[in-house]
Amino acid sequence: MSHEDFPTEEPAVVTCGLPYANGELHIGHLRTYVSGDAYARALEKLGQQTAFVSGSDMHGTPVAVNAEKEGVTPEEFALRHHEKYEETFPKFNVEFDNYGHTHDETNTELTQEFVRSWIANDHVFEKEIQVAWDPEADQPLPDRYVEGTCPYCGAKARGDECDEGCQRHLEPGEIEDPRSTLTGNPAEYRAREHEFLRLSDFQDYLKGFIDRLEGTSNARNQPREWIEGELQDLCITRDMDWGIDYPGEGKEDLVLYVWVDAPIEYVSSTKQYSERVGTDTFDWEAAWKDGAPEAGADDEADTEAWADADTGEIVHIIGRDIIQHHTVFWPSMLRGAGYNEPRAVMASGFVNLDGKAFSTSRNRAVWADDYLDEGFDPDLVRYYLTTTGGFQQDVDFSWEKFQERVNGELVGTLGNFVYRSLLFAARNYDGAPEAETSEEVEERIEEAIEEFEAAVNDYSLKEAGDTAISLAGFGNEYIQRNEPWNLVGEEPEQAEQVIYDCVQLAKAVAVLSAPILPGTAQTLWEQLGEDGTVDDAGLDACLESPNGEFDEPDELFEKIEDERVEELNAKLQERIEAATESDDQADTDEADADEAESEDIMSEDADIEPITDDRISFEEFQDLDIRVGEIEVAEPIEGADDLARLEVNIGTETRQIVAGIKQLHDLDALPGTKAIIVANLEKAELFGVESNGMLLAAGDEADILTTHGDSVPGTKVQ
Ligand code: 2FM
Ligand code: ZN
Repeated sequence: MSHEDFPTEEPAVVTCGLPYANGELHIGHLRTYVSGDAYARALEKLGQQTAFVSGSDMHGTPVAVNAEKEGVTPEEFALRHHEKYEETFPKFNVEFDNYGHTHDETNTELTQEFVRSWIANDHVFEKEIQVAWDPEADQPLPDRYVEGTCPYCGAKARGDECDEGCQRHLEPGEIEDPRSTLTGNPAEYRAREHEFLRLSDFQDYLKGFIDRLEGTSNARNQPREWIEGELQDLCITRDMDWGIDYPGEGKEDLVLYVWVDAPIEYVSSTKQYSERVGTDTFDWEAAWKDGAPEAGADDEADTEAWADADTGEIVHIIGRDIIQHHTVFWPSMLRGAGYNEPRAVMASGFVNLDGKAFSTSRNRAVWADDYLDEGFDPDLVRYYLTTTGGFQQDVDFSWEKFQERVNGELVGTLGNFVYRSLLFAARNYDGAPEAETSEEVEERIEEAIEEFEAAVNDYSLKEAGDTAISLAGFGNEYIQRNEPWNLVGEEPEQAEQVIYDCVQLAKAVAVLSAPILPGTAQTLWEQLGEDGTVDDAGLDACLESPNGEFDEPDELFEKIEDERVEELNAKLQERIEAATESDDQADTDEADADEAESEDIMSEDADIEPITDDRISFEEFQDLDIRVGEIEVAEPIEGADDLARLEVNIGTETRQIVAGIKQLHDLDALPGTKAIIVANLEKAELFGVESNGMLLAAGDEADILTTHGDSVPGTKVQ
């Protein structure tokens, strides 16, 4: 990969994390898929050759546990969900070039080839370890068959991941107080021989890799301390029947750990795409292999070798809970087999529903199917999920907020501008009048194109999406300022000029909005009477002359009325209540176990803590000196999992404050943010850094408290 700005000469592969084939999709799950699709389309707009691939994650305990509950084979269970995903994604305009699955022949063969290559390069060793065992069921308890306490942060954890706490991967045997999820019994331990990938072989390589890695800052910051500390080797085998067989001799009873064959599907899926369209159209080896430095070299020359390598541009789009897998395990796996490394990892925040996490078992979700059944255009939720806040931030979904963004930006700005312009043009000139684009409009479109290119190179979908909306906003202001309706009679040429400019702007809006709103942009393209598809139009098309004739358009978006929102909220509430009632009747332990097993991408429901009965006096409250501050600097504290060092202007001085927000916020995006500070808390030292005050934030996601008016730093909060 070149690290030159996109577009480059090399082929790009954009991937989305593989969904476990084990449940129904809700709109929270869709965030990374619509983002991946939008990003791949945006790269293509820049002229970058791009393949967009993913597949279903068929193996591992997430699937085996749920299949067992249904009493069907894991294969049958996983294939059913795979087919459903394959059908659902296109309904949200998520158009993969290839969507495979990890259990197919291509992935089975390629996975075994990767493992053989690690063995040949001496990166695999065997070790006897203690694995959790259920004495009653008399079987081993890999991964999600066991639950307990995370040894790193003390949170409740699954056998192989601290999903509710620090998000670390846990190796077999690491979890504390292990209990079987099959019987609830405390797990015993038994000695078993397993195979390990020696991650320490790649430590120097990874240090260079993480410095080269592009994408979101959380993907670079979170793994840094793991890479710099002692790297634990990765157990790559499991005592299970369901999975890809370990290819070593005499090891027929072992399958590969699901996190081995899952990311390899990124490569397999690209390979299948090449096989379908031909290598002249897309060459998977040029993207994944050609030009990569030889496997095994782990010295300082490495970094230079990568700097000169002419390899493809691999961009992974994932949820932030699987950063470690993509920035520590996966690059080592690739390197150990002589494959190319990722250029970028974009790790998104979670999606919440009305301020709380989605919960599939409590039916507290807006299901993908329900959204479509309500008759909403998929582009609306695409727009909401990709442009509400930065990519690393959590997005809160509520029907009210959805209504606000649809009615405001899509109906009020984009839809309004193109409808009034095209209607005027069609009624008065049967299309675009005769004219040339004015200098002012040409410059404004050029500016939008530059912003779009910069946003794509900055991995910011929000900013890419904003370019189309703000261009439409400019269009509204332009038409309003020039009042063509008052010019048609007296100054026809000027009226023609204004309307021609507006049609040109509408064409540019179609091109720039296409990655995020592909269906809508195509409708607009057709309304403009343009040939071909908007997908095939590059950024240059923004300034190419509009085609000429067209009819009166229809409106692109429909306003969402308040009554509709009330109706949607009532339905959601009803469903949650029905599910809660039936939940209440069920045994609580069992409900908890179900929850842990079926929630994969989203975090768990955060129960609201009861309000304390202990009241404090008004005087006691007044003892707190709470101020408005403005964050000026935000940087990670080396070695600390969660802590960030902030410099906060509180009017009279700038304070250094340590806050536990490192993994929850994009630190680079915080400077300039107003925050509420307790200024008279006694000083403390955290990780050797003095903290002179406290930043107030809500909940486990550390939602930073801010102001909504113009209060200046130092203003007292009362
Ligand atoms: O965490 C998950 O949902 C996994 N199924 C993601 C796999 S992504 C990849 F690396 F394959
Ligand atoms: Zn933890």
